[in-house]
Amino acid sequence: MCGIVGYAGSGSAKEMILSGLNALKYRGYDSAGIALVRKGKLLVRKESGKLEALEAKVGGAEFDAPLGIGHTRWATHGAPTRENAHPHVSFDGRVAIVHNGIIENFMELKAELAQKHGIRFVSETDSEVIAHLIALYFEDDLAEAVRKAAKRMHGAYAVAAVSADDAERIVAIRKDAPLIAGLCGEGGLLASDIPALLKYTRDVYLIENDEIVIVTKDSVQIFDEELTRLNRTKTHIDWDAVAAERGGYEHFMMKEIHEQPTGIKETLRHRVDAKKELLLDDLAFTKEELDAVDRIYIVACGTASHAGLVGKPVIEKYARIPVEVDLSSEFRYRNPIVTEHTLVLAISQSGETSDTIEAIREAKRRGAKVLSVVNVKGSSIARESDHVFYSAAGPEIAVASTKAYTTQIVSLYLIALHMGRLRGTVSAADCKKLVEALEQTPALVEKVIKDEKRIRKLAKEHYKKEKIFFVGRGADVATAQEASLKLKEITYINSFAIAAGELKHGTIALITRNVFFFAVATQSYLYEKMLSNIEEMKARKAEIVAVVKEGDKRVKEIADEVFAIPDCGDEIAPIVAVVFFQLFAYHVAKLRGRDIDQPRNLAKSVTVE
Ligand code: AGP
Repeated sequence: MCGIVGYAGSGSAKEMILSGLNALKYRGYDSAGIALVRKGKLLVRKESGKLEALEAKVGGAEFDAPLGIGHTRWATHGAPTRENAHPHVSFDGRVAIVHNGIIENFMELKAELAQKHGIRFVSETDSEVIAHLIALYFEDDLAEAVRKAAKRMHGAYAVAAVSADDAERIVAIRKDAPLIAGLCGEGGLLASDIPALLKYTRDVYLIENDEIVIVTKDSVQIFDEELTRLNRTKTHIDWDAVAAERGGYEHFMMKEIHEQPTGIKETLRHRVDAKKELLLDDLAFTKEELDAVDRIYIVACGTASHAGLVGKPVIEKYARIPVEVDLSSEFRYRNPIVTEHTLVLAISQSGETSDTIEAIREAKRRGAKVLSVVNVKGSSIARESDHVFYSAAGPEIAVASTKAYTTQIVSLYLIALHMGRLRGTVSAADCKKLVEALEQTPALVEKVIKDEKRIRKLAKEHYKKEKIFFVGRGADVATAQEASLKLKEITYINSFAIAAGELKHGTIALITRNVFFFAVATQSYLYEKMLSNIEEMKARKAEIVAVVKEGDKRVKEIADEVFAIPDCGDEIAPIVAVVFFQLFAYHVAKLRGRDIDQPRNLAKSVTVE
């Protein structure tokens, strides 16, 4: 997804900006650009493709400048070409801007700028209008021009602007797109995301909606939309910068798979006391508030929505509140029945997923309270929620989510128990039982990881397959869906997940000799049913690898191959079984020579619709 970095100071702007953009590479991008202000001149360079191409373009001393802005773009409006890359420069060459988000009324603005002012557009982007608008309003104060231009823009934006005619400062504004600023020894910094600044400062200002920020070499000043100065405090970011690097693994994804035991432990830490009672101070809702809730909607996208599917029956079991799982992109448009008695539970690793942000806004407009499970502190979803439960996966860099998923499930289980205890629908003994089982989970995940050799062997046997199906029942449907998504995103193999009971309603028509299936059978109460489904597929000569719990004797009589996860309770199995599928997808992707951490067409956080 797009990234913004700005710098003003005594150091080299191009170096600081490129270093910040490099730190944001993991988010995915398809072009990059930089605008530097040097000796009364605006120097703009952009390239499609990798950052290295841009770095090569600005290598010379003529690009040494004290101030500038940079951008990595992930194409939405218009192809990933040099013309469409940011920064965009105004018609008169005075202003350069970078933009994250979408200007919804750009067509109207474009028509107006072309007709009234004769401006010729050089890109296909929505963002270009911003540069022209600012230039039209620009007399001698860039901040004033940005303020006026923002009044004309509808949509979501984090915009940073520079001009050689107001050369000492970067002016930026945000609405519904992340923006942060900070100071380091060598100057002032601005970025769309925390990792871009981590190398230089850990104390940052989180810019709020409609705020304007002015960054100079020795100050960060924040203003409201009328340019009245605001007094804001900094937030300290306690991420370990080293944790954001690969730590010896070939790929972030592999590192993050290995970090799952720690992530789960961290998610449990401080939330359970010695007596296995919950200490969820993060969730400040009262029994009365909870008793008033008659329905929970889980809203999330992709992997996070699969965590929601695993969490749903567990919340219903312990809290005795009906739960529906909705994709955020569907929920926000389908006129959901949401009242002040609804609790919307948003799940998001990044906390910046546009569809999920809009889903919670829709819910709030309708009077619901929002509880979110988020991994990134201070992210938009966290800030807009009434209650936040942070999963403690640590920074997740690989596009394919792994540790965020397993820690989201653990978070949902703790929330389910907490709600149940408050409402009196779960006994202390049952609560203790699940908490103890959760505490065993890191060791079980570790065991699957240790079986990597076998998983790699299995990947070798099957990596040339062109189609792979995943089936399961109950919580194993969510595992099948997550397994299928993992495989699709990083290997590009055509795969498909379905509830095993649904096969006979249509999909079974696809089963012929050697059609390849993973059958997940970890839910004891559905075991017999799953066995029949496996028989059903085998009778049609499908090739089946079954994923079961250790000790299983019957599946191996039917399936072609069996992978056993350590024996554990049904509720724990989805957290353990998915690790097998993460490793399988990883090794298949590697054998196929894929770009594992940054698969094609994908970005880490989807901040556009
Ligand atoms: C997972 O592997 C994906 N890359 C994707 O489905 C992701 O989970 C989804 O975009 C939601 O992101 P979020 O958790 O940051 O909201």
